[in-house]
Amino acid sequence: MLLLTYYGHSAFALNDGKDKLLFDPFFSGNPLATTTADVVTCNYILVSHGHGDHLGDAPAIAARTGAMVIGTPEILEACRAENGHGMNIGGSAKFSFGSVYMTRAIHSSGVPGLLSCGFVVNIAGKNVYFAGDTALFSDMELIGKRFKLDCVLLPIGDNYTMGIEDAAYAVKLLQPKHVVPVHYNTWPVIAAEPERFKALVEKDTDSQVHILAPGDALDIDKL
Ligand code: NI
Ligand code: MN
Repeated sequence: MLLLTYYGHSAFALNDGKDKLLFDPFFSGNPLATTTADVVTCNYILVSHGHGDHLGDAPAIAARTGAMVIGTPEILEACRAENGHGMNIGGSAKFSFGSVYMTRAIHSSGVPGLLSCGFVVNIAGKNVYFAGDTALFSDMELIGKRFKLDCVLLPIGDNYTMGIEDAAYAVKLLQPKHVVPVHYNTWPVIAAEPERFKALVEKDTDSQVHILAPGDALDIDKL
């Protein structure tokens, strides 16, 4: 199994039955959050950048669970992580679940000297690309060629990141099998209609869009 659980905004987990990876765990102050920093379980935490809606509760969860934080050195410092694995853009590293390749993202980062990033995670034999917060960029085509992508998570909320049209264009470049839209409807400024994104993508590509409500889970292995 490879269970993707969506917690609202850009927070989600991947669980292969042995390891549970938590991404951008923003729960405190997240009006869509379906779990809390006090109870969520994980043994890895991946953080794309330093903005509060991504770094979020990572320091508290890392301290409580002892989970390994994976991110840039600046993120590890921001998390005050005792158990951390620092890496940087273009690098890959192996872990108990598989591997992580760090990609660029075009976005400010909230921490001086820090670059925002995305992750391609190889887990349970699947390649899952989490773009983080980003604009559309042409190197997405390269990421799609470099990795056969089974599932991608893309922001669609506009204003701070790609909106629906650019995210649909990103799908054309990435050519993944499955797409999950994130980073929308948390606040009015990033209101978006995921159904419109789904229609746009599925009209133009063979990729399938899965709209997850906060709290929903999707077994990527069964798709
Ligand atoms: Ni951001
Ligand atoms: Mn954000």
